Amino acid sequence: MLIAGNWKMFKAQAETRAFGAAFSPPAGVDVVVCPPFTSLAAAAESGLTVYAQNVHWAEEGAYTGEISIAMLKELGVAGAIVGHSERRQYFGETDEGTARRAAAALAAGLRVIACVGELEAEREAGETEAVLRRQVSALDLHPGLVVAYEPVWAIGTGKTATPEIAQHAHAFIKSLLDVPVLYGGSVKPDNAAELLAQPAVDGALVGGASLDPDSFAAICRAGLLS
Ligand code: 13P
Repeated sequence: MLIAGNWKMFKAQAETRAFGAAFSPPAGVDVVVCPPFTSLAAAAESGLTVYAQNVHWAEEGAYTGEISIAMLKELGVAGAIVGHSERRQYFGETDEGTARRAAAALAAGLRVIACVGELEAEREAGETEAVLRRQVSALDLHPGLVVAYEPVWAIGTGKTATPEIAQHAHAFIKSLLDVPVLYGGSVKPDNAAELLAQPAVDGALVGGASLDPDSFAAICRAGLLS
């Protein structure tokens, strides 16, 4: 059971240290936080397991605004998210680029959470499986790889996928690639247990509710019970 908190563009260093001091997750569940780049070192120094929110495939080079694997490792970062829908929607990231980021990070010993998920219009048009197939097919099996199913219509909207929708999508993803699959999209302390209880749900990728140490710890406890 892996519970990951994606802080997106929230929490500078002082707020990160305050979170670290207040956060007490239960033993027995793997917990990861994904702060912004400038807060990675502060999070690692707080004793948290830390993943970055993105990583580039090149060792170094003229890639303005990007971050390399070695730069992350130097800070004690253990993994990275790739292909988040906000990267795809707002910054033009593609299945191919996501796959390159994932492959390079995995080859260098970082763990990877690769995000997939359909838009609301794609679900309504009956295209969910086709979209998931396209996104998942770009990835290669690796022991360090985890996929996060994040239906875009459920991110930051308070609209959570029902446990049945999550179970169905996760089972479909696993039929394509045999990896652990996290659910993401409006996971909160009051809905985490029923989502995490689904057999194909191997954990959660939590946005907004991971920013508060008490609510994130409550979600981690829900993971422990599932
Ligand atoms: P919310 O939990 O805020 O909906 O965000 C989900 C997400 O995008 C995690 O990566």
